[in-house]
Amino acid sequence: MKYYITTPIFYPNSSPHIGTAYTTVAADALARYHRLQGDQVYFLTGTDENAQKIVRTAEANNTDTKSYVDGVVERFKDLWRALDISNDDFIRTTEERHQKVVQQIFTKLYEQGDIYKSEYSGWYCTPCETFWMENKLNEGKCPNADCGRDVELLKEESYFFRLSKYQGALLDYINTHSDFIQPVSRRNEMVKFIEGGLEDLCVSRTTFQWGIKVPFDPKHVVYVWLDALINYISALGYPDGENYKNYWPADVHIMGKDIVRFHAIIWPIILMAIDVPLPKVIYGHGWYLTKDGGKISKSRGNVQDSFALIQRYGSDAIRYFLLREMQVGTDGTYSEDNVVERLNSDLANDFGNFISRSLAMVVKFRDGIVPPSGQEQAPELELKALSTEVKKAVDKSLRKCDPASALEEIWRFVARCNKYVDETAPWSLAKQEDQRERLDTVLYTFVECIRIMAILTAPFMPGIPSKICGLLGKDERLIKWEEADQWGILEEGIKVQKGEPLFPRIDMTEYLTPEETKTVDEKQNAPIESLEMPVLEFEPIKEEISIDEFAKIDLRVGKVLSAEKVEKTDKLMKLEVEIAGEVRTIVSGIAKHYSAEDLINQYVVVVANLKPTKLRGITSQGMILAASQGEVLEVLTVNKRLPGGARVK
Ligand code: MSP
Repeated sequence: MKYYITTPIFYPNSSPHIGTAYTTVAADALARYHRLQGDQVYFLTGTDENAQKIVRTAEANNTDTKSYVDGVVERFKDLWRALDISNDDFIRTTEERHQKVVQQIFTKLYEQGDIYKSEYSGWYCTPCETFWMENKLNEGKCPNADCGRDVELLKEESYFFRLSKYQGALLDYINTHSDFIQPVSRRNEMVKFIEGGLEDLCVSRTTFQWGIKVPFDPKHVVYVWLDALINYISALGYPDGENYKNYWPADVHIMGKDIVRFHAIIWPIILMAIDVPLPKVIYGHGWYLTKDGGKISKSRGNVQDSFALIQRYGSDAIRYFLLREMQVGTDGTYSEDNVVERLNSDLANDFGNFISRSLAMVVKFRDGIVPPSGQEQAPELELKALSTEVKKAVDKSLRKCDPASALEEIWRFVARCNKYVDETAPWSLAKQEDQRERLDTVLYTFVECIRIMAILTAPFMPGIPSKICGLLGKDERLIKWEEADQWGILEEGIKVQKGEPLFPRIDMTEYLTPEETKTVDEKQNAPIESLEMPVLEFEPIKEEISIDEFAKIDLRVGKVLSAEKVEKTDKLMKLEVEIAGEVRTIVSGIAKHYSAEDLINQYVVVVANLKPTKLRGITSQGMILAASQGEVLEVLTVNKRLPGGARVK
């Protein structure tokens, strides 16, 4: 099947930001998903260059418009590369292939009487590139919810497009094609708007020259929205290019909610008028807002450098965040600390950790050689059933352009895999000779789960498949969508490696935004009394030892998997701590100072080569380090990208 998906074409008046990146990342995930289905995909993005606001920005920068635009367009292309966007084409509306189609359509519409000459007298919002009649203005300003800026009075000779003529046909179309405008909330908005009555649209300007000339009346340039919408077919070589014949009508035009109106009204009417089939779906997503609820936008001055963000956290993590946080029909909240939180919890703790701990166990217990799958039991059957359920749900969500729900489903599988590790406890199976086959099955299941995760996450985080395939010693032919709920694909006997953590944990304090830095400064200015220490009596320092003696102590980072108070004691706590794929039981005298929740998922420091000892009948296989003075005790923790097993020296 063919699948044609487009993003809006972006105004290159300023560099792209993380909010604008959402649409392109979402379209990319859908394009990649369809490619994995074996569909013949065409994915288009580009830039909308003939806008009046671009002329003004270039002037303000003392540059000629074309050189200015050329520079910004490169930034867009760089960002899409940095985010692993897999577009098949990039259209610029200053290209000849586009201009000639716009002129051809304008002429056709004029010749058939759908465009006529008259005079425009009304208002124009240049930042929104929108015409407004006096009665629509909000206290004399642009009525767009996120704009509210000054509008300019225009009185000029103009061409008009007879939208009014097509109002009935458009409403009929929307009413008989329930999937045309999605989600349904946007469809309802549009129907209401159209029912309110469509006025003919002014489609040319004479007060500036930057843009596509009306061929039969060259003092006019074509209105930027009429020009821009046509990119979706000009890029395909309308009217007789091979790509046009192959790919039109588009399967999805995806965009932010602010521009659904142009796509759901002007665009279908142009297409109806030139007798071209309409796109199948117009999908309007929400915006990314900052924590205080403002839209991320250059004009609000709340834009972070997207390149720096990608460099810091990686393209996969940024893509994951953007796709996961934007729920259908609502806006998403973007902040850097939310990115770090998602990265640490979903990607480092849940996803990455499952992969590294389970591979570490294959390495430890079977020298990295994948054992035979053996006899499945209830937990394996449950995992299999879940993979089928999850794959189905992911397919359904992506067909509805809803990557957030798809990811939520995938993480249900990831969570179940982590639980599977805990419930099968391979570290205890390894100690029992008669459980050898059971351990084989568990380890085999681990690698199959990893394979499935690589497939399911591939459309969202395109860097993952090659990394996982590398760990499994396979090439990317392993990534087959239809095999995401099939089992027994990996052969026994292949050699796997543990590798580096896919998503190292990030220490939040390293990356404070200016706002958060301020909070810290304020904290540091707290009244000095509260920081004063009482006079203390310290234990004397012990006698000297040599470095060699110290080196005998093997200190390791350990991840606390579980913690519970030892019954009938008030001091002792029993911890399960993972060190390099091995899980140790450690009894520690910290119960007065910590609850189980405080400790689970913390990375503590363990004396790993301490002789095991029995405490209250439990064999303690190590000791965790804590600092204490008087009544105060603090367990030493590390949290800066160090996995369980890392050495402490
Ligand atoms: N040039 C027009 C589109 C013409 S399509 C034929 C345009 N360009 S834009 O650069 O202003 O916006 C492009 C897209 O970015 C829009 O879909 C818009 O909704 C989206 N976003 C801009 N800021 C955004 C956020 N803060 N969050 C999510 N999307 C955002 O409009």
